[in-house]
Amino acid sequence: MKAQILAMLKEAGDYVSGEKISQQLGVTRTAIWKNMNTLRSEGYVIRSVRNKGYLLEKSPNLLDAEMISNGLNTHTVGTDIVVMKSVDSTNEEVKRRAAQGEKAGLVVVSDEQSAGKGRLGRVWKSSTGGIYFTLLIRPELPPSDIASITLAAGLAVCLAIREYTDCPAQIKWPNDIIIGNKKVCGILTEMAAQSDRLDFVAIGIGINVNHTEFPEEIRHKATSLFLETGREIDRNDFFRTVLKKLDKVLSSFLVSVSMDDVNQFRQLCATIGREVSLERGGEKIVGIAKDITTSGELLIESNGKKITVNSGEVTVQGIY
Ligand code: BTN
Repeated sequence: MKAQILAMLKEAGDYVSGEKISQQLGVTRTAIWKNMNTLRSEGYVIRSVRNKGYLLEKSPNLLDAEMISNGLNTHTVGTDIVVMKSVDSTNEEVKRRAAQGEKAGLVVVSDEQSAGKGRLGRVWKSSTGGIYFTLLIRPELPPSDIASITLAAGLAVCLAIREYTDCPAQIKWPNDIIIGNKKVCGILTEMAAQSDRLDFVAIGIGINVNHTEFPEEIRHKATSLFLETGREIDRNDFFRTVLKKLDKVLSSFLVSVSMDDVNQFRQLCATIGREVSLERGGEKIVGIAKDITTSGELLIESNGKKITVNSGEVTVQGIY
């Protein structure tokens, strides 16, 4: 009920009478009063004026499982949402829980991480203001399908950012999300598998949301939704959009990757058409990224030869 009351206050942007809340939600005035006090104790500033009602003056913008779930309506993503203040890494937390038999759909999200992990053994700086989360899925697929799962996750986040902020987010293959030429989101997918079947997949996603600045060493290559839009983002609302998109895109990718999915990915992929370079077998390859294959590989043309790349580090000219 707390989340519904808050949604009413936010939507109104003005005073809402206790009578209106009571009628709309079918609850007593005492229940409303109690919930207002709970919200105030969580940092919401709510003014109440006799004969006018309640006005939301300020939100603390804290991640809250009830707020995130309010109106979520997903099939599998977010069946259980665990919000943490701090954790070593949400990927590690989900892997620990998966090993104990936790069901698919679990989402663990944290305000900060003390040992956030990036790809290729790097550190992912995870200070407050971001959204750091991991989704647990248990698809009945071979381990080789992990690449397309990661692509699907990148596509979903890119679409969510576009929908919620109108920022022209793009995908830097395989799964960084960029705005302009700076990174706003990174994805680290980890799995446990038998030889022929995935046991579970932990899709870890870090989004720079309300960061107002970045440390010197990454300032030239990192951005946040706040820096791009000039406004503070309601993290619960935005996160709900991300989870909805993940639910939709994954439900399609996990059945079979359609041409529509691939085309959508191609359209949003900033890598295609640019000069790229990579190392293979100790040799540096430079070429032009031409396309994404239906299995999610990057197709590069180099010295008249076509090369496909399925993972690893590709440097794209002009993007950080
Ligand atoms: C990268 O671009 O290198 C991947 C970054 C992935 C960061 C996210 S934050 C949530 C999840 N937990 C982690 O420890 N890492 C991922």
